[in-house]
Amino acid sequence: MSKPKVFVAVNVDEQLIDRLSEVCTVSRWTGEGRCPADVMEKEIVDADAVVGYYNPSSAKLMDMAPRLRVLATSSVGFDHIDVAAATERGIVVTNTPDVLTDTTADLAFALLMATARRIAECDRFIRSGSWAQPAVPASLFGVDIHHATLGIVGMGRIGAAVAERGLGFHMKVLYHDFVRHEGLEQQHGYRFVDFDTLLTESDFVSLHVPLLPETTKMIGTAQLARMKRTACLINAARGPIVDERALVSALREGQIAGAGLDVFEKEPLDPNSPLLKLDNVVMAPHVGSATQATRRAMASLAVDNALAVLQGKAPLTPVNPQVLSRR
Ligand code: DGY
Repeated sequence: MSKPKVFVAVNVDEQLIDRLSEVCTVSRWTGEGRCPADVMEKEIVDADAVVGYYNPSSAKLMDMAPRLRVLATSSVGFDHIDVAAATERGIVVTNTPDVLTDTTADLAFALLMATARRIAECDRFIRSGSWAQPAVPASLFGVDIHHATLGIVGMGRIGAAVAERGLGFHMKVLYHDFVRHEGLEQQHGYRFVDFDTLLTESDFVSLHVPLLPETTKMIGTAQLARMKRTACLINAARGPIVDERALVSALREGQIAGAGLDVFEKEPLDPNSPLLKLDNVVMAPHVGSATQATRRAMASLAVDNALAVLQGKAPLTPVNPQVLSRR
Protein backbone atom coordinates (compact mmCIF):
# COMPACT_ATOMS: atom_id res chain seq x y z
CA MET A 1 0.00 0.00 0.00
CA SER A 2 1.37 3.45 -0.86
CA LYS A 3 2.17 5.87 1.92
CA PRO A 4 -0.28 8.69 2.59
CA LYS A 5 0.76 12.12 1.34
CA VAL A 6 1.15 15.04 3.71
CA PHE A 7 1.48 18.58 2.47
CA VAL A 8 3.31 20.77 5.00
CA ALA A 9 2.22 24.35 4.34
CA VAL A 10 4.55 26.03 6.85
CA ASN A 11 8.28 26.12 7.18
CA VAL A 12 9.11 23.54 9.89
CA ASP A 13 12.19 21.89 11.40
CA GLU A 14 13.83 19.00 9.59
CA GLN A 15 13.17 16.80 12.65
CA LEU A 16 9.44 17.17 12.11
CA ILE A 17 9.80 16.39 8.43
CA ASP A 18 11.78 13.26 9.39
CA ARG A 19 9.02 12.22 11.80
CA LEU A 20 6.42 12.58 9.06
CA SER A 21 8.60 10.87 6.44
CA GLU A 22 8.68 7.66 8.48
CA VAL A 23 5.03 7.05 7.60
CA CYS A 24 4.17 9.52 4.86
CA THR A 25 5.30 10.93 1.58
CA VAL A 26 6.03 14.55 2.42
CA SER A 27 5.62 17.51 0.13
CA ARG A 28 6.38 20.93 1.58
CA TRP A 29 6.25 24.68 1.18
CA THR A 30 9.63 26.08 2.16
CA GLY A 31 9.19 29.73 1.22
CA GLU A 32 8.89 32.62 3.65
CA GLY A 33 5.43 33.49 4.96
CA ARG A 34 2.17 31.96 3.81
CA CYS A 35 1.95 29.25 1.17
CA PRO A 36 0.52 30.84 -2.03
CA ALA A 37 -2.90 29.72 -3.28
CA ASP A 38 -1.62 28.21 -6.54
CA VAL A 39 0.84 25.99 -4.63
CA MET A 40 -1.82 24.84 -2.16
CA GLU A 41 -4.34 24.14 -4.93
CA LYS A 42 -1.81 21.96 -6.74
CA GLU A 43 -0.62 20.12 -3.61
CA ILE A 44 -3.98 19.42 -1.99
CA VAL A 45 -5.34 17.45 -4.95
CA ASP A 46 -3.70 14.19 -3.84
CA ALA A 47 -3.04 15.04 -0.16
CA ASP A 48 -4.29 12.91 2.73
CA ALA A 49 -3.26 15.56 5.27
CA VAL A 50 -2.35 19.23 5.40
CA VAL A 51 -0.17 20.52 8.23
CA GLY A 52 0.14 24.25 8.88
CA TYR A 53 -1.86 27.44 8.71
CA TYR A 54 -3.61 28.02 5.41
CA ASN A 55 -6.10 30.85 4.98
CA PRO A 56 -8.80 30.34 3.79
CA SER A 57 -9.32 26.61 4.14
CA SER A 58 -12.66 26.77 2.38
CA ALA A 59 -15.23 24.20 1.19
CA LYS A 60 -14.02 24.92 -2.37
CA LEU A 61 -10.47 23.97 -1.40
CA MET A 62 -11.68 20.80 0.35
CA ASP A 63 -13.61 19.80 -2.77
CA MET A 64 -10.32 19.75 -4.68
CA ALA A 65 -9.01 17.13 -2.25
CA PRO A 66 -10.93 13.85 -2.47
CA ARG A 67 -8.40 12.01 -0.24
CA LEU A 68 -8.09 14.65 2.48
CA ARG A 69 -8.54 13.19 5.98
CA VAL A 70 -7.08 15.86 8.25
CA LEU A 71 -6.45 19.60 8.27
CA ALA A 72 -3.97 20.13 11.10
CA THR A 73 -3.68 23.89 11.50
CA SER A 74 -0.70 25.22 13.43
CA SER A 75 -2.79 27.83 15.24
CA VAL A 76 -5.20 27.85 18.13
CA GLY A 77 -7.71 29.92 16.15
CA PHE A 78 -9.59 28.11 13.39
CA ASP A 79 -11.78 30.90 12.03
CA HIS A 80 -9.88 30.57 8.72
CA ILE A 81 -11.25 27.01 8.28
CA ASP A 82 -14.79 26.18 7.23
CA VAL A 83 -15.18 23.60 10.01
CA ALA A 84 -18.80 22.79 9.10
CA ALA A 85 -17.72 21.97 5.55
CA ALA A 86 -14.87 19.80 6.85
CA THR A 87 -17.21 17.95 9.21
CA GLU A 88 -19.69 17.33 6.40
CA ARG A 89 -16.89 15.85 4.28
CA GLY A 90 -15.53 13.68 7.12
CA ILE A 91 -12.31 15.72 7.37
CA VAL A 92 -10.85 16.02 10.88
CA VAL A 93 -9.77 19.55 11.86
CA THR A 94 -7.19 19.94 14.63
CA ASN A 95 -5.64 23.05 16.21
CA THR A 96 -2.80 23.84 18.63
CA PRO A 97 -4.15 25.11 21.97
CA ASP A 98 -2.15 25.33 25.23
CA VAL A 99 1.35 25.36 23.72
CA LEU A 100 0.99 29.04 22.79
CA THR A 101 -0.97 30.32 25.78
CA ASP A 102 1.85 31.91 27.78
CA THR A 103 3.66 33.28 24.74
CA THR A 104 0.50 34.97 23.47
CA ALA A 105 -0.33 36.30 26.94
CA ASP A 106 3.19 37.74 27.18
CA LEU A 107 2.65 39.60 23.91
CA ALA A 108 -0.76 40.92 24.98
CA PHE A 109 0.73 42.16 28.24
CA ALA A 110 3.71 43.67 26.41
CA LEU A 111 1.27 45.64 24.23
CA LEU A 112 -0.62 46.72 27.36
CA MET A 113 2.58 48.00 28.94
CA ALA A 114 3.87 49.64 25.76
CA THR A 115 0.53 51.40 25.23
CA ALA A 116 0.21 52.56 28.84
CA ARG A 117 3.77 53.86 29.05
CA ARG A 118 3.87 55.05 25.43
CA ILE A 119 7.05 53.13 24.68
CA ALA A 120 6.77 53.41 20.88
CA GLU A 121 6.22 57.18 21.08
CA CYS A 122 9.17 57.55 23.49
CA ASP A 123 11.33 55.56 21.09
CA ARG A 124 10.30 57.78 18.17
CA PHE A 125 10.90 60.88 20.33
CA ILE A 126 14.54 59.88 20.87
CA ARG A 127 15.19 58.64 17.34
CA SER A 128 13.80 61.84 15.80
CA GLY A 129 16.27 63.92 17.82
CA SER A 130 13.50 65.57 19.85
CA TRP A 131 15.08 64.82 23.25
CA ALA A 132 16.75 68.22 23.53
CA GLN A 133 16.35 68.77 27.28
CA PRO A 134 16.70 66.31 30.19
CA ALA A 135 13.03 66.67 31.19
CA VAL A 136 10.56 65.20 28.71
CA PRO A 137 7.30 67.05 27.93
CA ALA A 138 4.21 66.05 29.87
CA SER A 139 2.66 65.07 26.55
CA LEU A 140 4.73 61.87 26.80
CA PHE A 141 3.46 60.91 30.25
CA GLY A 142 1.56 57.65 30.38
CA VAL A 143 -0.89 55.96 32.72
CA ASP A 144 -0.16 53.55 35.60
CA ILE A 145 -0.41 49.83 35.16
CA HIS A 146 0.10 48.77 38.77
CA HIS A 147 -3.10 48.75 40.86
CA ALA A 148 -5.17 49.66 37.77
CA THR A 149 -8.29 47.74 36.72
CA LEU A 150 -7.83 45.11 34.03
CA GLY A 151 -10.96 44.02 32.14
CA ILE A 152 -10.62 40.65 30.44
CA VAL A 153 -13.16 39.92 27.71
CA GLY A 154 -13.11 36.13 27.33
CA MET A 155 -11.58 34.28 30.28
CA GLY A 156 -10.34 31.29 28.26
CA ARG A 157 -6.78 29.99 28.41
CA ILE A 158 -5.12 33.14 27.05
CA GLY A 159 -7.46 35.54 28.87
CA ALA A 160 -6.71 33.76 32.15
CA ALA A 161 -2.96 33.90 31.49
CA VAL A 162 -3.17 37.67 30.87
CA ALA A 163 -5.21 38.09 34.07
CA GLU A 164 -2.47 36.24 35.99
CA ARG A 165 0.12 38.63 34.65
CA GLY A 166 -2.11 41.48 35.85
CA LEU A 167 -2.09 40.01 39.36
CA GLY A 168 1.72 40.35 39.33
CA PHE A 169 1.16 44.09 38.90
CA HIS A 170 -1.43 44.19 41.72
CA MET A 171 -4.18 44.90 39.20
CA LYS A 172 -7.84 44.44 40.03
CA VAL A 173 -9.25 41.96 37.52
CA LEU A 174 -12.78 42.11 36.09
CA TYR A 175 -13.94 39.73 33.43
CA HIS A 176 -16.81 39.07 31.11
CA ASP A 177 -17.44 35.77 29.35
CA PHE A 178 -20.24 33.56 28.03
CA VAL A 179 -19.64 31.34 31.07
CA ARG A 180 -18.66 31.99 34.70
CA HIS A 181 -15.29 30.77 35.96
CA GLU A 182 -16.12 30.44 39.63
CA GLY A 183 -12.92 28.53 40.42
CA LEU A 184 -10.82 31.44 39.16
CA GLU A 185 -13.04 33.95 40.98
CA GLN A 186 -12.49 32.13 44.27
CA GLN A 187 -8.80 31.47 43.70
CA HIS A 188 -7.81 34.96 42.52
CA GLY A 189 -10.64 37.30 43.49
CA TYR A 190 -11.61 38.08 39.89
CA ARG A 191 -15.02 39.74 39.53
CA PHE A 192 -17.49 38.58 36.86
CA VAL A 193 -19.34 41.60 35.45
CA ASP A 194 -21.64 42.39 32.54
CA PHE A 195 -20.01 43.75 29.40
CA ASP A 196 -21.09 47.37 30.01
CA THR A 197 -19.66 47.35 33.54
CA LEU A 198 -16.39 45.93 32.26
CA LEU A 199 -16.17 48.71 29.66
CA THR A 200 -16.97 51.51 32.07
CA GLU A 201 -14.82 50.37 35.01
CA SER A 202 -11.66 49.08 33.31
CA ASP A 203 -8.45 51.00 32.76
CA PHE A 204 -7.37 48.32 30.29
CA VAL A 205 -9.79 46.29 28.21
CA SER A 206 -8.06 43.20 26.82
CA LEU A 207 -9.85 41.05 24.23
CA HIS A 208 -9.51 37.26 24.28
CA VAL A 209 -12.60 35.90 22.57
CA PRO A 210 -12.55 33.75 19.42
CA LEU A 211 -13.84 35.28 16.19
CA LEU A 212 -17.47 34.18 15.84
CA PRO A 213 -20.51 35.87 14.30
CA GLU A 214 -21.49 37.03 17.82
CA THR A 215 -18.05 38.49 18.60
CA THR A 216 -17.55 40.24 15.24
CA LYS A 217 -17.39 44.02 15.88
CA MET A 218 -18.28 43.52 19.53
CA ILE A 219 -16.20 46.66 20.13
CA GLY A 220 -17.73 49.50 18.10
CA THR A 221 -18.66 53.15 18.56
CA ALA A 222 -21.09 52.52 21.42
CA GLN A 223 -18.67 50.30 23.37
CA LEU A 224 -15.71 52.67 22.89
CA ALA A 225 -17.89 55.55 24.10
CA ARG A 226 -18.49 53.67 27.36
CA MET A 227 -14.78 53.28 28.08
CA LYS A 228 -12.85 55.77 30.25
CA ARG A 229 -11.03 58.51 28.34
CA THR A 230 -7.86 57.32 30.10
CA ALA A 231 -8.40 53.67 29.16
CA CYS A 232 -6.50 51.52 26.64
CA LEU A 233 -7.86 48.77 24.41
CA ILE A 234 -5.68 45.71 23.80
CA ASN A 235 -6.43 43.26 20.99
CA ALA A 236 -4.22 40.21 20.49
CA ALA A 237 -7.18 37.98 19.55
CA ARG A 238 -8.65 38.64 16.09
CA GLY A 239 -8.93 41.96 14.20
CA PRO A 240 -12.60 41.80 13.17
CA ILE A 241 -13.67 41.71 16.85
CA VAL A 242 -13.09 45.48 16.75
CA ASP A 243 -14.75 47.89 14.34
CA GLU A 244 -11.51 49.49 13.12
CA ARG A 245 -13.18 52.65 11.77
CA ALA A 246 -14.85 53.26 15.10
CA LEU A 247 -11.54 52.64 16.87
CA VAL A 248 -9.71 55.14 14.65
CA SER A 249 -12.33 57.83 15.47
CA ALA A 250 -12.18 57.06 19.20
CA LEU A 251 -8.39 57.30 19.20
CA ARG A 252 -8.38 60.45 17.10
CA GLU A 253 -10.95 62.18 19.28
CA GLY A 254 -9.37 61.13 22.55
CA GLN A 255 -12.40 59.03 23.45
CA ILE A 256 -9.91 56.46 24.76
CA ALA A 257 -6.23 57.01 25.54
CA GLY A 258 -4.63 54.35 23.37
CA ALA A 259 -4.73 50.94 21.74
CA GLY A 260 -2.28 48.05 21.53
CA LEU A 261 -3.02 45.91 18.48
CA ASP A 262 -1.48 42.65 17.30
CA VAL A 263 -4.35 41.89 14.91
CA PHE A 264 -6.27 43.87 12.30
CA GLU A 265 -9.49 43.67 10.31
CA LYS A 266 -7.40 42.97 7.22
CA GLU A 267 -3.90 41.49 7.40
CA PRO A 268 -1.39 42.56 6.31
CA LEU A 269 -2.46 46.08 7.33
CA ASP A 270 -3.16 48.39 4.40
CA PRO A 271 -0.20 50.81 4.08
CA ASN A 272 -2.81 53.59 3.85
CA SER A 273 -4.57 52.59 7.07
CA PRO A 274 -5.40 55.65 9.21
CA LEU A 275 -4.08 53.69 12.21
CA LEU A 276 -0.57 54.41 10.91
CA LYS A 277 -1.11 58.13 11.39
CA LEU A 278 -2.07 57.82 15.06
CA ASP A 279 0.58 58.18 17.75
CA ASN A 280 -1.53 56.57 20.46
CA VAL A 281 -1.51 53.11 18.84
CA VAL A 282 1.17 50.48 19.36
CA MET A 283 1.09 47.81 16.68
CA ALA A 284 2.60 44.40 16.05
CA PRO A 285 2.15 42.28 12.89
CA HIS A 286 0.17 39.35 14.41
CA VAL A 287 3.11 37.94 16.37
CA GLY A 288 1.25 36.74 19.49
CA SER A 289 2.65 33.23 19.28
CA ALA A 290 5.79 34.12 17.33
CA THR A 291 8.71 32.93 19.41
CA GLN A 292 11.02 30.26 18.04
CA ALA A 293 10.16 27.76 20.78
CA THR A 294 6.41 28.28 20.62
CA ARG A 295 6.16 28.13 16.84
CA ARG A 296 8.19 24.90 17.01
CA ALA A 297 5.84 23.48 19.65
CA MET A 298 2.80 24.44 17.56
CA ALA A 299 4.23 22.76 14.45
CA SER A 300 5.10 19.68 16.48
CA LEU A 301 1.57 19.39 17.87
CA ALA A 302 0.11 19.87 14.39
CA VAL A 303 2.35 17.05 13.09
CA ASP A 304 1.32 14.75 15.98
CA ASN A 305 -2.33 15.47 15.24
CA ALA A 306 -1.95 14.71 11.53
CA LEU A 307 -0.02 11.50 12.19
CA ALA A 308 -2.61 10.31 14.71
CA VAL A 309 -5.46 10.70 12.22
CA LEU A 310 -3.49 9.07 9.40
CA GLN A 311 -2.71 6.12 11.69
CA GLY A 312 -6.34 5.71 12.73
CA LYS A 313 -5.81 7.08 16.24
CA ALA A 314 -7.51 9.96 18.05
CA PRO A 315 -5.69 13.28 17.56
CA LEU A 316 -4.67 15.18 20.68
CA THR A 317 -6.58 18.38 19.99
CA PRO A 318 -9.47 17.89 17.57
CA VAL A 319 -11.80 20.77 16.73
CA ASN A 320 -14.60 18.59 15.29
CA PRO A 321 -14.38 15.32 17.31
CA GLN A 322 -17.79 14.28 15.97
CA VAL A 323 -16.02 13.23 12.75
CA LEU A 324 -13.98 10.71 14.77
CA SER A 325 -16.99 9.17 16.45
CA ARG A 326 -18.67 8.75 13.05
CA ARG A 327 -15.78 6.60 11.83
C1 DGY B 1 -3.37 31.51 16.54
O1 DGY B 1 -2.75 30.52 16.91
O2 DGY B 1 -4.59 31.48 16.38
C2 DGY B 1 -2.58 32.72 16.26
O3 DGY B 1 -3.33 33.87 16.26
C3 DGY B 1 -1.88 32.58 14.92
O4 DGY B 1 -2.79 32.80 13.91
